Amino acid sequence: MTRNRPTLHSAPTIDEETVKADEPIRSNSASPSFASLLDARVSRRSTLRGGLGLAAVTIFAGAGLAGCSDDDDNNVDTDTEGGESNQALSFTSVDGSLADQVVVPDGYSVDTLLAWGTPIVAGAAAFDPATNTAADQAGQTGSHHDGMYLFPDDSTTGAGTLVVNHENISRNFMFPNGRSEDGNGRPTDPEQIRREMAAHGISVVRIERDSDGGWSHRMSPMNRRITAMTPVTMSGPAAGSELLVTPYSKAGTATRGTVNNCGRGFTPWGTYLSGEENIQGYFTTTDTSEQLSRYGITGTGFGFFWSAVSDNASDEDNGEFARFNVTADGTNATQDWRNEVNTFGWVVEVDPGNPSANPVKRTAMGRFRHEGVEPSVIEDGRPIAFYMGDDARGEYCYKFVTAENYDTANPDSSMLDRGTLYVARFNEDGSGDWLPLDVEDNDDLAQRFNGRQSDLLVYTRIAADIVGATPMDRPEWSAVDPNNGDIYYTLTNNNDRGAAGEEAVNAANPRPDNEYGHIIRQVEAGGDPAATTFTWDIFVFGAPAGDSEINRSGLTADNQFGGPDGLWFDRRGVLWIQTDNSGNAVADVTNDQMLAVIPASLAGKRTITPETQASLKRFLVGPSGCEITGSDLSADAKTLFANVQHPGGGFPDYDPSIPPRSATLAIRRDDDGEIAL
Ligand code: FEO
Ligand code: CA
Ligand code: CA
Repeated sequence: MTRNRPTLHSAPTIDEETVKADEPIRSNSASPSFASLLDARVSRRSTLRGGLGLAAVTIFAGAGLAGCSDDDDNNVDTDTEGGESNQALSFTSVDGSLADQVVVPDGYSVDTLLAWGTPIVAGAAAFDPATNTAADQAGQTGSHHDGMYLFPDDSTTGAGTLVVNHENISRNFMFPNGRSEDGNGRPTDPEQIRREMAAHGISVVRIERDSDGGWSHRMSPMNRRITAMTPVTMSGPAAGSELLVTPYSKAGTATRGTVNNCGRGFTPWGTYLSGEENIQGYFTTTDTSEQLSRYGITGTGFGFFWSAVSDNASDEDNGEFARFNVTADGTNATQDWRNEVNTFGWVVEVDPGNPSANPVKRTAMGRFRHEGVEPSVIEDGRPIAFYMGDDARGEYCYKFVTAENYDTANPDSSMLDRGTLYVARFNEDGSGDWLPLDVEDNDDLAQRFNGRQSDLLVYTRIAADIVGATPMDRPEWSAVDPNNGDIYYTLTNNNDRGAAGEEAVNAANPRPDNEYGHIIRQVEAGGDPAATTFTWDIFVFGAPAGDSEINRSGLTADNQFGGPDGLWFDRRGVLWIQTDNSGNAVADVTNDQMLAVIPASLAGKRTITPETQASLKRFLVGPSGCEITGSDLSADAKTLFANVQHPGGGFPDYDPSIPPRSATLAIRRDDDGEIAL
């Protein structure tokens, strides 16, 4: 189990500590476990190739490309399209820090904006920790900022619409005197629960640069809060199925709200994608079916117990609270909330250009603990793949491939309703297979789900178990290299790996007791997002500095890290790694952090080795108690945005009368130059 990190929190919170404690849910994969292969992947000669023949709209154009030979068995020829670049990160790696402050390289400055409680909708009250109401919160930014995406106005101003996930809350900071509860920890005040619900979800907010160069939000009619109450449309193959029927939507085509919004994605038609992660924290049940237990739905969740205030709420709107108890105690699905949980755990599409449009849950992309939803390099005339992780121990990496080719002239969001969902099998020899999750394709799946693809999608995890996907060390975000289409996933940690009775190590997850996590890379066969095979290798292993068996990438004080979580390529080809680490030797020397590396510049190598580790640099360290989540780059590449989630000290107000607040950082160079290069 993850050890608890030293915390400045005044009381147990419903935040990442609880989330991690609730993540022993493991897959029941039929996949064979590999024998100990501790060194198989780091010593093999990879067959990975990068070249996709992409247009050279990259930082490398004109940057002195040089083809490099592969003279090392650990590494891969980077080929002509993705060859060694003279481009390098221009900043000096910052030291690890345990201070309650944000640390950035010399020559950089940080603004903070959109702290939890910032009014963003017209008429919303200012944040007052003593008097804030549910109605106030519904017009203010939520808490626990996570994945985000900036939709810029154009390529020069940098201004635009920022869409930010709000993953969770810290209840002790929301209710410093404690939540009103009965003797069993069940809440009793509907107003407080409405406030908790309103702090979840997504913010859509206009941001601009100020005259002094800093950033702040603007009030705009496009600004919007999406919460755990917002009407949502269900779309795709599972919409309208029996498994989505509730008293709220007898047709099974609608639900209310989104929760635990974690990683993110985007589409070429200008919409935002948000992954619903730890849904098991919010629902309770006394039922014990496989369909519930495989999704971790228990009698307690994370202790929210939102259903408990139903009896106290004379103004309850159509089971707005009761729906979070999904026990089947009525005569059918229109009489109880047994199926409400089936309307969560999806990818949610939000149109930032249409504040009155319902968010849409895209059921074709599967139901699990969604993290990132990163698209493949988008080109006219070919399908789009979206790469996705399911964050729990022993869960899987997935992709959804649209059935239709993308057409710039006719962008169509309903593409997300038609396509094939695949789950990844990472073979021992560095090859891999995308296994289709399709009842038309597989007799076992057809039998298990009675021939209904809708049912398969609602129980995606069970389908992935049946086809023999590879259980991974908690897949978090995915990222796609804009220069060559390579796909990266963070595998944040898995202390169970290799333990008695747990998943054995396998080639793709080769370290037992994987306390520090690693980042794995895929290359699609032929560079085709729709390929059904791929090759893979491990890009970097997290570890504390020093000479140890586990420090396989030779990390040093300048770049030691653990718990890789947020992962993102900016459009220039810089890969940013964000951490959610705790309770280990790296946490002893630094708060959570953000590192950068240009994979194509690793001295001609494509994998971080003891010889290339200096290419990986620490760019930022967060304040006490936080994790660093989500990022984006302004259109002029002069501001980097990153989120501070659940700080535990004084950040950002450093005022004893104001609790620590999640917020967005805007980081600029003092010489107004491009970030990091
Ligand atoms: Fe929300 Fe898996 O981090
Ligand atoms: Ca995450
Ligand atoms: Ca996290």
